[in-house]
Amino acid sequence: MKVADIKKIAVMGAGDMGHGIAEVALLAGYKVAMRDIEQRFIDKGLSRIKESLDKLVEKQKITEENKKAMLANLQTFIDIGESVKDADFVIEAVPEIMDLKKQVFQALDAAAPKHAILASNTSTMSITEIASATKKPKQVVGMHFFNPPVLMKLVEVIKGKKTSEATMQLTYDLALRMNKVPVRIEKDSPGFIYNRITAPTNILLGLMLERGVATPVEIDARMKRAGAPMGPYELMDYIGLDVSYHIARNFSERLSRDHEPASWLKAKVDAGELGKKTGRGIYDWSKGRPEIDLSKAKEDFDPTVFTALQVNEATKLLEEGVVKSANDIDKAMINGGGVAAGPFQLAKEIGYDKLAKICDDLAQKFGIKTFEPTRTLKRGRVP
Ligand code: 3HC
Repeated sequence: MKVADIKKIAVMGAGDMGHGIAEVALLAGYKVAMRDIEQRFIDKGLSRIKESLDKLVEKQKITEENKKAMLANLQTFIDIGESVKDADFVIEAVPEIMDLKKQVFQALDAAAPKHAILASNTSTMSITEIASATKKPKQVVGMHFFNPPVLMKLVEVIKGKKTSEATMQLTYDLALRMNKVPVRIEKDSPGFIYNRITAPTNILLGLMLERGVATPVEIDARMKRAGAPMGPYELMDYIGLDVSYHIARNFSERLSRDHEPASWLKAKVDAGELGKKTGRGIYDWSKGRPEIDLSKAKEDFDPTVFTALQVNEATKLLEEGVVKSANDIDKAMINGGGVAAGPFQLAKEIGYDKLAKICDDLAQKFGIKTFEPTRTLKRGRVP
């Protein structure tokens, strides 16, 4: 199958990511089937697609006629078999629970046409393990979008152990057709690029709050003043504290116990305070996006610590052969997080020796092995 042969895309899940991915596919001109397990989830996803398309009409990015045509291209389903029976490409965006993903892939394998590619939008999980639930692992791939899918450009295209080159290329080409910036991940590894590189930063954010080093507003205001589109705690609320929690648990099981979620994060998730989606998380979202008071910025907090941890983790991906080049990593981080420069571009300006020293100091101060500088960082010679 070539990308031009893809006519219909099915999306499993109508939540934060599912409805956004369905919208991206509609904007690219595809017929779309969006499936969820209950009508109320479908209705919510549908109204969010309509709201977002209305915004695009308002901004004259699309016309009212385009919007109507896109909505006419969208069908919704509860029955999984019905939703994929004539799909050429399926993108799964169900909650981050491995058993659930496997159940869904087993059902997709049974119901989707033989030629269909089965992609997972998982944030961190093993594509190889998800593919093991099917009889066609060559046609299973990772296709990881970023939140909000309609605005963020990055799509990580992830090769499971058995994914064929034809499946990788087709998925890459589809991401291009969706007006996205795809980056290939050559080796199935926890968190792929973006979530893996930001994982040590999340450990530090957890520790800072736990130990009372700073408040979320102080750090978020500091980071926004430094040019970040959102503060890091605000971003956690935006993507969902349950998502942050699942990501951290996955890393804790597969990379190091250093990633075990902070107790305050677990308490928030247990209390159902998940951030934007529930109206309350680290911040109050009941009246919309929280106002971060920039005058509260913690002036003595140096954002270079985040850069140091990110560059360090990025060198691990190069050492492990997960990604081909430092350029691909910079491209992913710029387009995934809406920032101006990637970690290696920043490293060249700051100096590898300075970054290695920061990582060393953080590792000592917090007793976290994950923060220790890699050989590549210490040598300052990035391949
Ligand atoms: N559809 C259409 N338009 C939308 C929209 C949507 N869903 N959401 C926002 N917009 C529009 C707004 O209307 C606004 O338009 P305007 O400029 O004409 O007024 C514009 O986008 C900007 O929105 P806002 O003014 O509300 O806010 P920002 O300027 O801060 O932009 C943002 C919003 C693009 C989300 C920006 O804050 C950002 O880039 N944040 C970082 C997001 C990020 O890092 N995402 C990655 C998270 S990690 C992840 O997803 C991985 C996963 O596995 C966990």
